[in-house]
Amino acid sequence: MNEQILINGDSKNKLKDIQDGSVDYLLTDPPYGISFMNKGWDKVLPDVEVWKECFRVLKPGSFISVMSSPRSDVLYRMIKDLEDSGFDMSFSPILWTYHTGFPKASDTSKMIDKRLGVDREVIGKVELKGTAQTLKGGNYGGETYDNKTSEYNITSSNTYIG
Ligand SMILES: C[S@@+](CC[C@H](N)C(=O)[O-])C[C@H]1O[C@@H](n2cnc3c(N)ncnc32)[C@H](O)[C@@H]1O
Repeated sequence: MNEQILINGDSKNKLKDIQDGSVDYLLTDPPYGISFMNKGWDKVLPDVEVWKECFRVLKPGSFISVMSSPRSDVLYRMIKDLEDSGFDMSFSPILWTYHTGFPKASDTSKMIDKRLGVDREVIGKVELKGTAQTLKGGNYGGETYDNKTSEYNITSSNTYIG
């Protein structure tokens, strides 16, 4: 089996160590430029120089998959930056649909009950630790993770929407 290498650091610098035309495929989930949860790293889109480096290291004819927010203002800039860096943007995007901006943060049935002002019956308890409760006590984005254990109620859904 081939050796797997994990390089940890700023892609703007680390990509420089990679040879021209040596990468088969590139998959990335970069900052979207939407100030997600007010994170500093998400205030702007990646520098065009990063995309130029990605283009340089990829083998001719190979693909890059870049995740982006569907928000028009940042999506069109992302597409423009990629095109300006040399990428052929004539391929159809792969799209996925989801109910909220960040589904991990909310439970739709709880939102419906809350809006209707109904109490949910507590039917059990659960202990969660680490990333499962990152949004409550931690810091999304990989910088710090709160590893403490907390107890949460398990509730039944109260509202039947027929
Ligand atoms: C959209 S998030 C990726 C989230 C990840 N896919 C997940 O599900 O947890 C973008 C990530 O890129 C990192 N980042 C921002 N600028 C970077 C850079 N120049 N080099 C490497 N990573 C960077 C941020 O710290 C952040 O964790």
